[in-house]
Amino acid sequence: MSDTLSEMQEALQQIQLDFEAEAKQAGLNALALENLRVAYLGKKGSLTLLLRGMGKLDAAQRPLMGQAANDIRQTLEAELNGYITQARHAEQEIRLEAEAIDVTLPGQVTPLGCRHPLTQVIDQITRIFTGMGYAVAAGPEVEYTRYNFDLLHIPEGHPSRDVTDTFYITDDIILRTQTSPVQVRVMRQQQPPIKIICPGMVYRPDTPDATHSPVFHQIEGLAVDRGITMGDLAGTLQLYARQLFGADTKIRLRPHHFPFTEPSCEVDVSCWNCGGAGCPTCKGEGYVEILGAGMVHPWVLEQNGIDPHEYSGFAFGIGVERTAMARYKIDDIRNLYSNNLQFLEQFK
Ligand code: DAH
Repeated sequence: MSDTLSEMQEALQQIQLDFEAEAKQAGLNALALENLRVAYLGKKGSLTLLLRGMGKLDAAQRPLMGQAANDIRQTLEAELNGYITQARHAEQEIRLEAEAIDVTLPGQVTPLGCRHPLTQVIDQITRIFTGMGYAVAAGPEVEYTRYNFDLLHIPEGHPSRDVTDTFYITDDIILRTQTSPVQVRVMRQQQPPIKIICPGMVYRPDTPDATHSPVFHQIEGLAVDRGITMGDLAGTLQLYARQLFGADTKIRLRPHHFPFTEPSCEVDVSCWNCGGAGCPTCKGEGYVEILGAGMVHPWVLEQNGIDPHEYSGFAFGIGVERTAMARYKIDDIRNLYSNNLQFLEQFK
């Protein structure tokens, strides 16, 4: 055996020893292990460089050395691959643990709100009347005095037209003080049969207190057809009151005056709290007022294009806030506009 051969064999053994030592140091670090592959087995790796020196050997020694070097290369490669596989596993384990999601933890709860009590009441009332075949109509909140007053038989000089009772924008344009002008608009647009309700906002220059707000809501109702009587009005409102306040509810019609209806009445329902015996809710009366109504004045029909000799009709105006306050026992109207969550969350 020549010196060169034994030198090379020693170098080969040294390479293996160095490799093992370095592999130990690299541990299960995949990147460090890949670097080892380059350092030992790569194009400029120590094993490769050693093999290049085989030219110095005798022709007979070369296969011997070549065989030994190949064996080592295979051993190192196998070891390296084994380590790298282990390292990848370990890294994956760590990542899986870090990214683990505990599906048993409670989720993030998005707080669920609810519709405003006024909206709820408007929806309930609308459902009752659409169930009786009424359509929903709408009109502008900025309205002509002609529609809000004149054509509803409320003449100039009437106290409700005073600046203390109506917000004027110009002499003949106002914020509507009632939803009744929608009656006018509907009658001028369509011939009977008419059955509409109109929920909407109305405005009056009132100072806010427990029962007043300068902005509030009404629901107007209008039915016009041949042969409509006060009996139809009473029956319709009876049905309405029973559905909204309960099956035992009785209604009471009291004579009243509205310019646009004749005869006119105010409508009371038997107290939902005491059933009519008298209690603080109904102030001992047994009944609570819920709306104004009447037979559409023939003059109003005529002025708005409907022949009063052929047709008759009834109308009503429901105060939404008043109804909501009655149903939910709310003692101050301002609660409805204060955006106080503690108050509003009771209506979920
Ligand atoms: N518009 C009236 C008000 O604001 C309410 C009303 C009463 C409407 C009688 C009507 C009705 O349609 O017939 O006080």
